[in-house]
Amino acid sequence: MTANWVAVASRKELARRRKLRVELDGLAIALFEAAGRVYAFADACVHQDRSLVKGTLLHGKVICPGHQWQFDLETGYEESQGRCQPTYAVRVDDDTVYVDPTARMSPVTAGEEANA
Ligand code: FES
Repeated sequence: MTANWVAVASRKELARRRKLRVELDGLAIALFEAAGRVYAFADACVHQDRSLVKGTLLHGKVICPGHQWQFDLETGYEESQGRCQPTYAVRVDDDTVYVDPTARMSPVTAGEEANA
């Protein structure tokens, strides 16, 4: 399947704030930066739609501000609930962050397409 990369943010701005909410054709996406890597999640939590960009980044996870579900940054998987937050492939090119808005629902190999 061909990737459909869309420029969504400046790398510098994301590096400064570590969390950034962007909209792509009405789709809210939460961008996170942790340990020099960039991740893209559906912003609305699969549990009860709280905004993940308002969550906390900790030990490779984003913790939802709603009920503290902890989603793995690499896969979107929430281990204790057995649920997955939709994630998106990310590409960083110079100062631009690109996202492919085709959601991935299942866990992927860690870092497979991120930062390629
Ligand atoms: S809304 Fe995210 S854990 Fe409940």
